[in-house]
Amino acid sequence: MKTEPKRMGVLGCGLMGSGIVEVAARRGFEVVVREISTQALEEGRARIEASLERAVSQDKLTRREADEAAGHIRYTLDLSRAVAEADLVVEAVVEDRLVKRELFAELDRLASNDTILATNTSSIPIADLAAAVERQGRVIGLHFFNPVPVMPLVEVVPAIGTSTATLERTLELAQSLGKEAVVARDRSGFLVNLLLVPYLLDAVRQLDRGAASIEQMDRAMVLGCGHPMGPLALCDFVGIDTALRIAEVMYDEYREERYAPPPLLKRLVAMGRLGRKVGKGFYDYTGEEAEPLPI
Ligand code: 3HC
Repeated sequence: MKTEPKRMGVLGCGLMGSGIVEVAARRGFEVVVREISTQALEEGRARIEASLERAVSQDKLTRREADEAAGHIRYTLDLSRAVAEADLVVEAVVEDRLVKRELFAELDRLASNDTILATNTSSIPIADLAAAVERQGRVIGLHFFNPVPVMPLVEVVPAIGTSTATLERTLELAQSLGKEAVVARDRSGFLVNLLLVPYLLDAVRQLDRGAASIEQMDRAMVLGCGHPMGPLALCDFVGIDTALRIAEVMYDEYREERYAPPPLLKRLVAMGRLGRKVGKGFYDYTGEEAEPLPI
């Protein structure tokens, strides 16, 4: 017996949203992704198509599988279209508490009773978003890692009011997406960022204090600890602006120095050096090889 395809709405088609859309479409989900401008939508579409092409050129997907995956994706500016009939809605918009709260309040009005409302927030406690919603039992955290098609983990974060049914269905959906789920407690940073963010911020602070050059610091952690990339390259990869926002939220929550946003991150954001996505952060990505930039 053929089972019904699972339906998913994804809100935001940036770095994370586009990865989530791609993974879901490759797994046979019918996905509707919503952005707030035509330009953002087209950029997201281009990112997804380039990633599918790359998978074909690396023999990870056949042409037919890539076309099928692309055929599962609908692009829209209309929120109600992304939410209608979805089993799961994943919010992956900008890391801003007010923006997300407003969106969740609207989702609560638009979504049918049995739609799960999930957020891909990196740092905002789920309860803060669930508080904007009347039917709080269906709100949950579903935190993916960048690059979403590569990283096998997803953190599943039930809030105080999340129902057991929502948790169980979300764990099943995570498995259908091919991800291994870890259930984390609802506090800012959940589990991975609770450990990762202080390390990244410390690297920025140590750089600012002259402990080493950008390249030396990254090489040291790659060669000395076997990390796939050094902390400053990883900041660029996550996005300097995103790293700063995460630090602000976590510092607001814990008031511990280890989460305090380093001034150098603020300066980089002010200068528009937002990391790999814009071609410049700690490194310049516009040439063949990434080159460290002056700080
Ligand atoms: N989409 C799909 N596949 C990709 C990809 C992408 N965007 N980027 C890389 N890949 C694949 C490549 O095709 C390659 O596959 P293969 O081994 O089968 O050939 C594999 O990943 C390795 O890629 P590359 O050889 O091009 O480059 P690297 O060896 O340098 O790996 C990397 C790139 C996978 C990004 C690796 O450097 C890495 O794992 N870095 C750490 C990433 C990380 O820590 N992510 C978590 C960030 S924290 C986060 O997301 C949470 C948030 O809240 C902040």
